[in-house]
Amino acid sequence: MDFSVPQWLRPALPFFHPVLMWVLLAVSFYALYTGVQVIRTRSAKGEAKSTLLKGKFAQVHHQAGSILLTLMVLGTLGGMAVTYINNHKLFFGPHLLVGLGMTGLVATSASLSPLMQQGKQWARVAHITLNTLLLALFGWQAATGVQIVQRILNQS
Ligand code: HEM
Ligand code: HEM
Repeated sequence: MDFSVPQWLRPALPFFHPVLMWVLLAVSFYALYTGVQVIRTRSAKGEAKSTLLKGKFAQVHHQAGSILLTLMVLGTLGGMAVTYINNHKLFFGPHLLVGLGMTGLVATSASLSPLMQQGKQWARVAHITLNTLLLALFGWQAATGVQIVQRILNQS
């Protein structure tokens, strides 16, 4: 299949995905911060608890998590689409496989939301475990992603 991308858009096309993914890495750290605040809020007592409750961290975390879920799924599909448009194929390598794995992880982690809200402890442990793995893989994905960007810049 051949896609006709307007000529003016071609040079910018390979850079949308990397920029989006760096923004998403920042969103992931924000999700980590607000998630930790959720735990602190639950275990706090008295004055400290009412101060933490004002931060509405559970709500903010859920919103940040939803943004992360949506943009990671769309960003992965976008990365694959651009790779296909530019090379007429996908590269069956670590960046593709880890990327697809991360998308599966974030979807599974998000699906635990109703169970965590019902107070199921195992769901919280599973959510934290999956997201720790997600963050570690994100570091790896950023490193391999930067290598791909360098390869694209050297080609042009
Ligand atoms: C890097 C990604 C993420 C990290 C590091 C993270 C971390 C955490 C942590 C530490 C907690 C507290 C668990 C506890 O109460 O013991 C939590 C709770 C929660 N997370 Fe995440 N999370 C991430 C992504 C997401 C996503 C993608 C969603 C859903 C769209 C989500 C939805 C929730 C919900 C609903 C809770 C329960 C909040 C409550 O108690 O009301 N999180 N998360
Ligand atoms: C954090 C920094 C990241 C950078 C700098 C980066 C960079 C890139 C680049 C330059 C491409 C090739 C685009 C092209 O050929 O024009 C690519 C492809 C791709 N990226 Fe990323 N990426 C990053 C993170 C991610 C993440 C977090 C995921 C998934 C969760 C992901 C999934 C993919 C996939 C599936 C492809 C297609 C790979 C292929 O078929 O070879 N990337 N990425």
